[in-house]
Amino acid sequence: MKAAAYPEHWLETVRFHRRFAEHDLNDWLCEQLAPQPHHTFLDIGCGTGEQLLHFASVCRRCIGVDNAELPLRRLAAIVQDQNIRNVEWLCCPGECISLDDSTVDLVACNFALPYMNARQVLSEIRRLLTNGGRSIITGYAIDNVAEMIAIHRDRCPYVVPGYINGFCDAARFADVAEHIFSRVEQRTWTNPMRFPGVADFMQYYTHTDLYMGAKDMVEDLEKSVAATAQAVLSRDGEIRITKVISALYLAKE
Ligand SMILES: C[S@@+](CC[C@H](N)C(=O)[O-])C[C@H]1O[C@@H](n2cnc3c(N)ncnc32)[C@H](O)[C@@H]1O
Repeated sequence: MKAAAYPEHWLETVRFHRRFAEHDLNDWLCEQLAPQPHHTFLDIGCGTGEQLLHFASVCRRCIGVDNAELPLRRLAAIVQDQNIRNVEWLCCPGECISLDDSTVDLVACNFALPYMNARQVLSEIRRLLTNGGRSIITGYAIDNVAEMIAIHRDRCPYVVPGYINGFCDAARFADVAEHIFSRVEQRTWTNPMRFPGVADFMQYYTHTDLYMGAKDMVEDLEKSVAATAQAVLSRDGEIRITKVISALYLAKE
């Protein structure tokens, strides 16, 4: 199988969340899934392993799946550097994972389901989960980062599909999940990001798909968006954007 392409700028976005977000997504995911030391945890579309590595501090065995080689190489380097022994990974599609039935206690799929065949991935999750196993699927809710999109739109009419309101919303997959799981709950979580200056905001913005997808359409997009960001900063004293995470909690009963 040929590995899928992975945009290089995605490698950096987690760093900005760590610096500027009020809360830590990993803490919220742990509250939802309640990992235990005897658990096997699977992360589908794991990327560089941001969530996988966090769960590895609790769970016995942690497996990451991604169909792109670039983030898995970054994950492999971290695992090797830190001599982490309970993390493994598979470069394969989330739709077809070579693990045995009923062998995984917890599954996460974060910000990745809209890029996959949702029905196939949700069926894989059900097949792999033990009875009593739990899964969380996260995405971006309607009105996610609305303030950043407003700043962008002030200078650029084009918004890439991933930022179209609701495209990455996990709630979109509730209907298909209800055909596969007996228990499906919708959850929402809000995580504000506060940027004390324009330069900090611009570092984040220029690493998003929103900017990357539009920068060739408007001359000097970075410079003109910085001017709008400056106006927001002068008006509000900070640039605040609100990440709104939508999630589906699934249980195999
Ligand atoms: C936006 S990233 C999220 C990465 C990680 N879950 C996180 O939150 O940091 C989406 C990930 O899904 C992976 N992906 C997309 N389609 C996939 C598929 N069909 N099978 C497996 N992974 C896939 C991409 O390579 C990418 O690493």
